[in-house]
Amino acid sequence: MATKTKSPTTQYVCSECGFIAPKWLGKCPDCGNFNTMQEELVRVEQQKTDVRRGVGTVVSRALPISKIGYEKFDRVNSGIEEFDTVLGGGIVRGSLVLLGGDPGIGKSTLLTQVAAHLAKEHPTLYVSAEESCSQVKMRCDRLRLASENLLLLNETCLEEIENNLGECRFVVIDSVQAIYTETMNSAAGSVGQVRECAAKLMRIAKSRQITFFIIGHVTKEGALAGPKVLEHIMDTVLYFEGQPEDNFKLLRAVKNRFGSAQEVGVFEMTDEGIKSVRDYAQIFLSESRGLAAGSAVTPSESGNRCMNVELQTLITKTAYGMPRRMSLGVDYNKLILLIAVLEKRCGIPFYSLDVYVNAMGGIKLNEPSIDLAVCVALASAAYDVPIDKYTAVFGEVGLTGEIRPVTYAEKRVNECIKTGFKRVILPAKNKKLCEKYAEKIELIPVQYVGQALKALQLRKDG
Ligand SMILES: Nc1ncnc2c1ncn2[C@@H]1O[C@H](COP(=O)(O)OP(=O)(O)O)[C@@H](O)[C@H]1O
Ligand SMILES: [Mg+2]
Repeated sequence: MATKTKSPTTQYVCSECGFIAPKWLGKCPDCGNFNTMQEELVRVEQQKTDVRRGVGTVVSRALPISKIGYEKFDRVNSGIEEFDTVLGGGIVRGSLVLLGGDPGIGKSTLLTQVAAHLAKEHPTLYVSAEESCSQVKMRCDRLRLASENLLLLNETCLEEIENNLGECRFVVIDSVQAIYTETMNSAAGSVGQVRECAAKLMRIAKSRQITFFIIGHVTKEGALAGPKVLEHIMDTVLYFEGQPEDNFKLLRAVKNRFGSAQEVGVFEMTDEGIKSVRDYAQIFLSESRGLAAGSAVTPSESGNRCMNVELQTLITKTAYGMPRRMSLGVDYNKLILLIAVLEKRCGIPFYSLDVYVNAMGGIKLNEPSIDLAVCVALASAAYDVPIDKYTAVFGEVGLTGEIRPVTYAEKRVNECIKTGFKRVILPAKNKKLCEKYAEKIELIPVQYVGQALKALQLRKDG
């Protein structure tokens, strides 16, 4: 980058401290960080023509709240039920939706399906900057999509893309890292380019009421290219999660200006493309549940959805040296902490055992309510006693071994009833709220981890 000649309209801004320099520098003179200077456009014009003015709703005079009218969001069906749910009830016209995920997870597939569905009734354009048009066509054929009206464009220059928008109301950009704007010198995919392209798309979206679906690749660190450079510009940010080899994928909304920011959609990758999954039990619960020791089921709340997820643990003798701890879908530090609680408060020794924990279906569980399930699963593995198939557990575990109440207790119990569980072990302080379900499911309130182990008859002495 250092050898490039600078165009008069760009400047270099430190991504750490915001220091501005007229030319590229290896080290920021202000904060001293190396390699943080990113090229950016000098935008004198931008403040004058705020992106939202084009819509005609922005007033530059302060008004009392009673004088402000309601804005109605016009939603369009995407043709994929779960996708609509994650978006908050359908696609909002004129919105900017970012879809992030690992390569090969199914971003292009999902949006090709959505674009083909939209093209039936609305002019829709699929801009493929990574693949050729014939590759996209082949994908449409393979997925047997009725896509006669879908417009395809193989272009990487944003200005050219803009010229091709025509009457289109829905546009897919695949991917934002592959396109560039002529106003900047830096290479496509660099932070400056990505940010500038996204800002430009935002202006087009708001002024022309075009909905953009933007695909973004996740970098090694797990954030979208550049340090979260895009998220603040977008209306909605969705992440596709799941192991590439697994058929099941989760679509998570991490930001949504038009709906809940914590929605999760469950999808299945089939020969005919991506399909919504409504019956979660087959994904997150194993068939052998209740037969082998070391697994426990917990109702986990994700967004507006409660799902019963099975946690599996495996304990083996440490071969040499330090015991290993490994976790998939559960926070590593949380696991270490819970092992310590079990050792100290329940007297189960783990110091010479390797511990492996996995949440079924590749889901990531990060709420405190799963603590108790991890504990009982570990205890079940340690004592080699399976946990009853029809018992679910939830509750936060404190360092003293006490069980703390959790949010959405009623919803969790209700989910257990719906999925056919007969017993649920829950924090004593949550019991009162759930009493109304007592006829349908046996509620076992516990105050300490030890009580939960006893209730599950895991302890040989108890
Ligand atoms: N020609 C094909 N035949 C069968 N499966 C394919 C084909 N192309 C892609 N896939 C499957 O679709 C998955 C998703 O691909 P794609 O939507 O292109 O991912 P992304 O755009 O997220 O990188 C791939 O992981 C692969 O398993
Ligand atoms: Mg792709």
